Amino acid sequence: MRVGIVGAGTMGRVHGESHREAGHEVVAVYDLRPEAREALARETGARPAESYEDLLGDPAVEVVDICLPTHLHREYVEAAARAGKHVICEKPIALSLADARAMIETCQAARVHLYIAHVVRFFPEYRRARELVLAGEVGRPGIIRTSRMGGFPAGWADWYAQPEMGGTVLVDLVIHDFDWLRWTFGEVERVYAKSLTGRTAERLDYALVTLRLASGAIAHVEGSWAHPGFRYAFEIAGDAGVLEFDSARVQPLVVRPRQAGHGSGPAGVEVPESPLAESPYTTQLRHFARCIRGEEKPVVTAWDAYKALAISLAALESARTGRPVSLGKEG
Ligand SMILES: NC(=O)c1ccc[n+]([C@@H]2O[C@H](COP(=O)([O-])OP(=O)(O)OC[C@H]3O[C@@H](n4cnc5c(N)ncnc54)[C@H](O)[C@@H]3O)[C@@H](O)[C@H]2O)c1
Repeated sequence: MRVGIVGAGTMGRVHGESHREAGHEVVAVYDLRPEAREALARETGARPAESYEDLLGDPAVEVVDICLPTHLHREYVEAAARAGKHVICEKPIALSLADARAMIETCQAARVHLYIAHVVRFFPEYRRARELVLAGEVGRPGIIRTSRMGGFPAGWADWYAQPEMGGTVLVDLVIHDFDWLRWTFGEVERVYAKSLTGRTAERLDYALVTLRLASGAIAHVEGSWAHPGFRYAFEIAGDAGVLEFDSARVQPLVVRPRQAGHGSGPAGVEVPESPLAESPYTTQLRHFARCIRGEEKPVVTAWDAYKALAISLAALESARTGRPVSLGKEG
């Protein structure tokens, strides 16, 4: 696969490295900062493009990989589609459902593939946990807790700190968990959220969201941009046991079956998958390339990205109004 990367910041560099690992050829790189595009072009062996039009006009570029701040996703995705290029774009798909829908429809009309990089579906621990849940290891899931915590992100022109560019912790960060929860446990019906966005003078953000799923299960989703070091964790409690993961612990994934009559039971089943075998970003980009070649069916579609965004936007509204929000047809 021959790729043009747009945006040579944090994710542009991660994707550049992952394309290389996956055996894809990065043929052109564009970033409005010349030093950034030249550095990534050097790292990937690509040509630094002078403008986005220059990159889109390059017949060697089959797929455009968009790693730009979120408020730019729609404009750049649609331009790529109109140029007849397949598109990979970082999550969140956009900042509004209208933009997300327009992007999907433009790509459909142009007959190009559109993949949104919801990478958590490619993390071995999240993937394996889903398999175990679907195999009935914890029985019927009742309560799910997820946490995703890191420091306040730094980006070009401080865009993460501008809600109209990044959408806050609810749209940018916990959308990963919303997507994984939908994939694993089914649709979300109702959302209630509390957040510190805009309430602290320092660069700190935190949100706690309660989701009511159509299955009857309840999920507590915690997201923080006030945590020293990156950490993610989940716990799934069902009527047959509890499954838990915490990136801060050594053991990757533990199932503790609930034993009738006594509490201790077997020590737990360790899942023999190393999260370090291959970067999930590489697994993801390899998969998207196979989907574009028609060799695999997408694990995550652009409509999945749309639905994850719908949950994030409902959480934003709930945090703003203090009321629970039901997801209608849009969700
Ligand atoms: N999947 C993940 O794990 C993950 C992690 C972090 C960020 N992201 C997402 O990736 C995207 C990019 O985030 P980032 O942290 O890499 O941002 P960043 O600020 O590090 O990089 C963005 C780059 O875009 C360039 N840029 C800005 N406007 C441009 C324009 N009009 N034309 C060309 N270049 C332009 C900037 O110079 C910068 O180099 C966001 O949508 C973000 O939400 C995903």
